[in-house]
Amino acid sequence: MADTGFRGFIDDLEESGQLWRIKQEIDTLDEIGAFIARADYAHIDKGLLFENPKGFDIPVFANTIGSTYRRIAEAFDVPVQSAVARAGDKIKQVLMSGGIPPEYVDRQDAPCKEIIWTGKEADLTRLPILRMNPKDGTKTKAFLEGRFICTPAFSKPSEEGRNVSYHRFEITDRQGGSVWIFRGTGDARSMEEAWGAKIDDPSSNWEPEKGRPFPTAFVIGVSPEFILAGANSALPYNNNDFATIGGLKGEPVKMVKCETIDVDVPADAEIVIEGVYHPFKWAKQGRFASFNGFYDDARRRPAFEVTAITMRAKPIFQHVHIGRPLNETNNIAAFFRGVRVYNDLKAVLPNVVDVYVDPSAGCGFTVHVSIDKKRIGETKLAMMRAYTALQGFCKHVFIYDEDIDIRDPHERDWALAHRFMADRDLLIVPNALGMNIDPLAQGKMGMPAKLGPYDGHAEIPLNTRTFMGVDCTVPLGLNVMERVMPDAEVESRIDEMWSKALAAQ
Ligand SMILES: Cc1cc2nc3c(=O)[nH]c(=O)nc-3n(C[C@H](O)[C@H](O)[C@H](O)COP(=O)(O)O)c2cc1C
Repeated sequence: MADTGFRGFIDDLEESGQLWRIKQEIDTLDEIGAFIARADYAHIDKGLLFENPKGFDIPVFANTIGSTYRRIAEAFDVPVQSAVARAGDKIKQVLMSGGIPPEYVDRQDAPCKEIIWTGKEADLTRLPILRMNPKDGTKTKAFLEGRFICTPAFSKPSEEGRNVSYHRFEITDRQGGSVWIFRGTGDARSMEEAWGAKIDDPSSNWEPEKGRPFPTAFVIGVSPEFILAGANSALPYNNNDFATIGGLKGEPVKMVKCETIDVDVPADAEIVIEGVYHPFKWAKQGRFASFNGFYDDARRRPAFEVTAITMRAKPIFQHVHIGRPLNETNNIAAFFRGVRVYNDLKAVLPNVVDVYVDPSAGCGFTVHVSIDKKRIGETKLAMMRAYTALQGFCKHVFIYDEDIDIRDPHERDWALAHRFMADRDLLIVPNALGMNIDPLAQGKMGMPAKLGPYDGHAEIPLNTRTFMGVDCTVPLGLNVMERVMPDAEVESRIDEMWSKALAAQ
């Protein structure tokens, strides 16, 4: 990955015709979100620079990665089809080598400290934070309009560890918010260690006076490597993510200490929001458009108190979008969940060829895997391993032979139609651990009556789901009819003819 920094990244986009400047005045409430969603649906993977957000003099940039995999594949220097496997191998290599340690710069040399707001000045409503979707937000006070920050969060799990991750952050006060920290993420674990108890435990087990505040910095305006690291669920707990990013880039990342908390952030970031989670202090969050395409209900989440905001003199506000899938959030989260499944599967099944986590299907609910099958039973092993790799995200796993391009829905449908027989090739596991945002896993409340009116029976227990594995591979040894495929020799003969005919169109 080239070291460009966020500003260099935008310049590169402009030079290569991949930057779309939107000069008209546009509202940060709903309008920018709707514009981004249109671009996502039209597969426009240009960077979007909104130069004139209404009421703010800070431009908003969206689509660092966008809703396609082109820029991720380019970052790993491979075609889209091999990006998951390449990223999986590269991350494994870097983790084994320990990566390249970060370099620390003095605060006077850090562009992210050109302006420093503390006390009452550190007011979140001064930033062009978007309401991404019209029905987002708590909206319990006049100035609370359902604005959410979606940007990497930086934390320090231990003296050696450095973590980058994403946690949605709703503004519930001028100097605070509510943040969703999902179980199983590194920050959930670090926070529970600081607080001295599990967040999910009954409150009778909490001893808030013994807990320590957990500091975090939300960083806006970073180069794509930090975005990818923040989304990367394939990195181990207490890893130094900065060294891993350095290893992936081939050079150290430049970091600086925060002003009010013991956390390090990229020195060339645009805006840094410093703050702490106090033990067992909660705030209501949402409703909010979740990655599965539904408005998730309002829920109690950890409250975040802002202690300082630092920034460049003329910052650009970088935004990662969440709305109806397709969207950038699902896209990058799904990519790295794919990497995680790929590496987990490879550990037990070296003949795994590719993994595709469908970003539209809850970015982890549906996983497609292709294997070069050698033994009976491997497909079931792959299904179960893919399920456990994602700690309850995964609901449906489809396994294909290696001749199927699992990124192509036509190829997948073809394999399902011709290589799958429901009575033999289906694995069903009821009551597997699931996700509380699965609309079918809401206990009594959400049990849909698909075969008649809901009578209270056969409800699915809260947060569990039925896991399904679908084997779309040809049985070993079965002599099936030959598949119609392009002939390599004929194809090479018409390659040139094709290019010329296309150019002459
Ligand atoms: C754009 C985006 C938004 C995300 N939002 C959240 C969120 O609100 N809460 C959460 O716990 N995880 C969220 N995730 C998933 C985690 O950030 C992701 O799994 C990350 O790798 C966790 O890192 P960690 O385990 O190193 O802490 C999001 C992922 C992406 C890509």
